[in-house]
Amino acid sequence: MDFTKKTVKDIDVRGKRVIVRTMLNVPIEDGKIDDTMRLQAAKPTIEYLLDQGARVVLISHHSDKDQSLEPVAAALADVLNHDVSFIPSVLSSDVERAVNALKPLDVLVLENLRFHPEEEQNDDAFARSLAAYGDIFVEDDFTACHRAHASLVGIPKYLPAVAGLGLELEVDTITKALEHPKKPLVAITGGAKVSTKIPILSFLLKKVDSVFVGGAMANTFLAALGKPVGKSLVEHDQIDLANKILEEAKAAGKTILLPVDVVVASELDPPTNVRTISVDDVGENDIIADVGPQTIGQLDELFNHEGTIIWNGPAGIFETDEFSGGTTALADKIISSGAYSLVGGGDTCDFVDNAGLHDKFNFVSTGGGASLELMSGNKLPGVEALLDKEA
Ligand code: 3PG
Repeated sequence: MDFTKKTVKDIDVRGKRVIVRTMLNVPIEDGKIDDTMRLQAAKPTIEYLLDQGARVVLISHHSDKDQSLEPVAAALADVLNHDVSFIPSVLSSDVERAVNALKPLDVLVLENLRFHPEEEQNDDAFARSLAAYGDIFVEDDFTACHRAHASLVGIPKYLPAVAGLGLELEVDTITKALEHPKKPLVAITGGAKVSTKIPILSFLLKKVDSVFVGGAMANTFLAALGKPVGKSLVEHDQIDLANKILEEAKAAGKTILLPVDVVVASELDPPTNVRTISVDDVGENDIIADVGPQTIGQLDELFNHEGTIIWNGPAGIFETDEFSGGTTALADKIISSGAYSLVGGGDTCDFVDNAGLHDKFNFVSTGGGASLELMSGNKLPGVEALLDKEA
């Protein structure tokens, strides 16, 4: 199914004051922004609005509730190669004046919405006050669409609300990959916590032909199969669920592939006594930190096709060199396969970005939690709040 919501191209924005909920939630170190992936993704919508002569008011949160968006506004100006003004408040008479003084092609960034607790509380009066700054609302922060916050679901009650081009691209790409994939559809999953990944795994199992489970998540499955896991991260309260998923997969005639060898250590920081061993030989003091080469070698059938590969979750503690081999090898295999590759989830995207591999995949989602929700078959409140295409 195509994207069902109206987009910024379905509405007349010429000369209008357009509030864009955009993604300025980027890592800031010593006041500097090195990773501009999200700002690049925000660009097409803003540029489209400028082409149309709109007056643009950008609003966003930063996960750090005390972090000003001022340095992000400056970085955005560089990315856009266009003047961007910043005002250090969200609701004030200064903002009102600045918004009323906007001319076509002006871009104004307001302060971090989370300076106000009302944002996360989805406070109606707060949403209504924000809505008063514009004539039209454009939702273009895919990364936040799983949050039912005032700027995402409150403002659309008061203004015509449509999707931005970045949001449309994300939702459309992920939905199509799951609903109409080029077959076979393979999922490579991993990451630390089974509890956050179980929904995605259950949903993906209905869609995919094969699944590989790596990362710490695999430990819980190995424990469910009665394998020794030593001092590895295992979610004991999820073992029954892991067993249920293994049974469901078996009943559906699908295989969940698990590691056959692992990289273990007796300490993670600094890495001590690092060895690669069979999953049957994990000692009681061992901590599983990555998958081994034999595991990767046995996954060839998952990569040797021209279908679709969805990758969500690293294979090990990739931030530590000694434990990054599995994740690097998975990335290489996916890149050199002939398949369409889609990467989602915060940690996996961090890995891909830090390794400079972003352009090697067909699509890398900007969203962590939001892409997980979508890949779990859930609706995103920030998308649901927008106008339907046929309305
Ligand atoms: C993200 O970075 O995943 C989104 O922008 C959401 O941020 P949050 O987890 O602080 O709500």
